[in-house]
Amino acid sequence: MTLNKISKTQPELFEFTSANLLKAEKEIDKYPKSRKASAVLALLYLAQNQNNNWIPMSAIKYVARLLNMPYIKVYEVATFYSMFNLSPVGKYFVQVCTTTPCMIRGAKKITDICKKNISQNQNELSENKLCSWTEVECLGACVNAPMMQINQDYFEDLNETKTDEIIQKLLKDEFPEPGSAKNRKNNAPEKGKTTLLEVKNA
Ligand code: FES
Repeated sequence: MTLNKISKTQPELFEFTSANLLKAEKEIDKYPKSRKASAVLALLYLAQNQNNNWIPMSAIKYVARLLNMPYIKVYEVATFYSMFNLSPVGKYFVQVCTTTPCMIRGAKKITDICKKNISQNQNELSENKLCSWTEVECLGACVNAPMMQINQDYFEDLNETKTDEIIQKLLKDEFPEPGSAKNRKNNAPEKGKTTLLEVKNA
């Protein structure tokens, strides 16, 4: 499991925008009053979305106050789940799957390209501050391994050339076309469908 890196630079203040505060109240209302803490994941996710995709300590304390939870309990949740970023991430956040199916299909070559072009260490910004990368556990697209997620999109069936091309585009502030590098439709066989041929859109 990749450990969340905690930023050395921390903004002192955090509070939800009025729109997010409304969303937070709706989340809290889903649970009995004595179980407000159940909304902690939803509120941390809102905080991350509001703060350029990372959660500062001030947001962890703010969420703890809203939910009447000890700060350390919210901190435990935020540090446990790798989908919460505790240090700034780039405008383009590259998550490389390094679980077994992706690893045996070449994930190491992908992380090497990230190290060379984005930053030597995970969870650090590229020189132009546009990109950062991290290793993650299985993203559920093993059949199209190796793969990586960039922001909300999946890039699959990667090889070194394709990965390098994608990273170079990101560094130029361009977003590449997501999907399979082999132009597979979803997870269909590489040479096209072999079953359900008579079913349109299958
Ligand atoms: S192992 Fe990489 S997506 Fe599942």
